[in-house]
Amino acid sequence: MTTSARETVLVVDFGAQYAQLIARRVREAHVFSEIVGPSITSAEVVAKAPIGIIFSGGPASVHVEGAPLIDPGIYDLGIPILGICYGAQLISLQRGGEVGRTDRGEYGRTTMTLADGGGILLHGTPDEQPVWMSHFDAIVTLPDGVTCTASTPDAPVAAFEDVEQKLYGVQFHPEVMHTPHGQHVLEQFLREGCQAEADWTMASIIDTEVAKIRAQVGDRRAMCALSGGVDSAVAAAMMHKAIGDRLTCVFVDTGLMRLNEGEQVVETFDRHMGLELIHVQASDRFFAALAGITEPEAKRKAIGELFIRVFEDAKTQVKNADFLVQGTLYPDVIESGSEHAATIKSHHNVGGLPEDIDFEIIEPLRSLFKDEVRMVGSQLGLPDEIVQRQPFPGPGLGVRIIGEVTPDKVATLQWADAIVREELRVAGLERTIWQSFAVLPDIRSVGVMGDERTYGWPIIIRAVTSEDAMTADWARIPHDVLEAMSSRIINEVSGVNRVAYDITSKPPGTIEWE
Ligand code: XMP
Repeated sequence: MTTSARETVLVVDFGAQYAQLIARRVREAHVFSEIVGPSITSAEVVAKAPIGIIFSGGPASVHVEGAPLIDPGIYDLGIPILGICYGAQLISLQRGGEVGRTDRGEYGRTTMTLADGGGILLHGTPDEQPVWMSHFDAIVTLPDGVTCTASTPDAPVAAFEDVEQKLYGVQFHPEVMHTPHGQHVLEQFLREGCQAEADWTMASIIDTEVAKIRAQVGDRRAMCALSGGVDSAVAAAMMHKAIGDRLTCVFVDTGLMRLNEGEQVVETFDRHMGLELIHVQASDRFFAALAGITEPEAKRKAIGELFIRVFEDAKTQVKNADFLVQGTLYPDVIESGSEHAATIKSHHNVGGLPEDIDFEIIEPLRSLFKDEVRMVGSQLGLPDEIVQRQPFPGPGLGVRIIGEVTPDKVATLQWADAIVREELRVAGLERTIWQSFAVLPDIRSVGVMGDERTYGWPIIIRAVTSEDAMTADWARIPHDVLEAMSSRIINEVSGVNRVAYDITSKPPGTIEWE
């Protein structure tokens, strides 16, 4: 299937944290999804030729001045539309219905009762079922021709549809786990409402991307930055499939990798993938570039920029490489600043790039979520030891050392980090944890060891569970495992006299400290 023929559903992001989740759920139903902003025009929608459109929820009230609206021309395109929460209210309002304030809103789990058999969306689900609600306003009058198909005590219209006008809406959130029949609702919209063929599979992702890469690269050459992480490995494998030996991989040892990671990368990629690999030892350059820098964004920019410069040097060893492959994922693209999302961090692979870059960038994973990347990797024949690796940030330990980055601090952190991961592995918890690592803050504290006063560094253990890194929960590691980590770190890592465990989820924290 060509890119243009690929079935796509647009998810209009009205500013809720749920838009990405909706996009993922759509893909789980085997339909490609793309997130767009509310300022999209009907002409832009036509150009994308989606089979359906989903309006996400959003934090605003439709009655507030400046609340995001949608180009009304989009309703006239004959493309099926599903509104969720704010999106459902917006459809009602813009199509002549009425949205009012309820006295108290409705938050969390509630019981919904079907009307009219639940229509297409809720067909085949129980007459009474739990749903997850989060709204203050409520639809009180529906547009002409639209039927109410479910209600709850505080939402007289919890679901509606009009098959003729191809308008569908749910006040509840079908994309969250707390709505048990939510995925069914989305699938009903896709299959029955949009007549989706639902043929978006790992094999079709690979075919589509390989075709795109071949079209972009032609008979030119590409270089791929290997970091040792999953993303760059899968990006390299995808490129390899597309352009064969016109790909040269470069592994830059920044000195900011985990313990022994450099050797592991060289060994793994030679052994498993048989790719042409150039190993550049650049740690001195990175430490020099980072000297005196303490501000997190400045560090990220410095590392990102030097990375590219080192690549440009390595380029002289490769004949005519015009492209630089980056393992950028869809969440990186969205988090680095979209129309309605604030920029949280300049991700190494996106915002950290200098403007005067001397390569064309190619990003074969740019439209994929992490779980999709892993599945694509396995499909491409990569071993589990690569595909199931924990994510590691582009700037490496540079963003896990608070304050100035020095070789000594990196050595300290590498040891502590290796202990944290080893103890989790021994405890059999490695696979249940999204990321686990150590952080070295820029403070020291007083302790006592063998009757002697110590004044040393603390190590902060960070371990989180997550589905996609957009949100994360601190991992409930058993106390005896934490104790083993703590005592080993203090006994084995010189200069460390205290260990703390970070119990912050995301939000409000981020996974990395910087
Ligand atoms: P945060 O700290 O923003 O991280 O919650 C979310 C996920 O992204 C990883 N991360 C990065 N990955 N380049 C990357 O390729 C980067 O610059 C970068 N910064 C953070 C982080 O490890 C987590 O998995």
